[in-house]
Amino acid sequence: MATLGARRIGANADEQLVRSRQRVADHGEVFTPRWLVDDMLELVRSETERIDSRFLEPACGSGNFLVPILERKLAAVSARHGRSEFEKRHYALFGLMCVYGIELLADNVAECRANLARTFVLYLGPDAGDEWKRAALAVLAANIVQGDALKMSDAFGKAITVPEWGYLGRGKYQRRDFRFDDLTQRAGASMGLFGAFHEHEIFTPVRTYPSMTVQEIAA
Ligand SMILES: C[S@@+](CC[C@H](N)C(=O)[O-])C[C@H]1O[C@@H](n2cnc3c(N)ncnc32)[C@H](O)[C@@H]1O
Repeated sequence: MATLGARRIGANADEQLVRSRQRVADHGEVFTPRWLVDDMLELVRSETERIDSRFLEPACGSGNFLVPILERKLAAVSARHGRSEFEKRHYALFGLMCVYGIELLADNVAECRANLARTFVLYLGPDAGDEWKRAALAVLAANIVQGDALKMSDAFGKAITVPEWGYLGRGKYQRRDFRFDDLTQRAGASMGLFGAFHEHEIFTPVRTYPSMTVQEIAA
């Protein structure tokens, strides 16, 4: 086992970081151990503790970064909205809406969506009901894309689009879809995934949805 200072390089016994040599050779598939993810997220702690900060992982694997990011957002939801079950659930879904991934391999995409959904459902607890799970799965179907992040095309060869979600309050969400290649043309990474409001207007959404409730998203 290699060591870096006092830090162990490797995984916990239950962490599988490599599935096969072939996949490492073909796709560079080596997953990041949890301790390293946590250390890296500490570097951007204030962003991870914001419910509405948007994170996109362009090679997200099974979600080794995205799941801990969601966990931190959900902790922020509890701290800020824990007293109202209505607000807690809606902001938890909004936190999930702010997590994005692109991944080449279908099995990793499925696992990533399942891992994020499990984290969300466990957080809400059994009383929340099936509708919230279905809404989460609908969000994840849009936010976790199977595709090539370098070519910016999805599994069907079409331009990747990503949804910009917003929570309007009173149980309503908005959604606008943008082309990923348009968003990456922003000069400064400091602008973030969708940037400041006035920056929005430079980019035209490929689709704008009417405002939606959780029930409508679930449907
Ligand atoms: C080094 S692994 C990292 C996975 C995850 N980010 C983590 O840290 O555990 C790289 C991942 O990127 C995926 N991948 C490789 N080329 C890709 C591409 N062009 N677009 C999207 N994903 C890609 C691989 O399938 C693999 O799951």
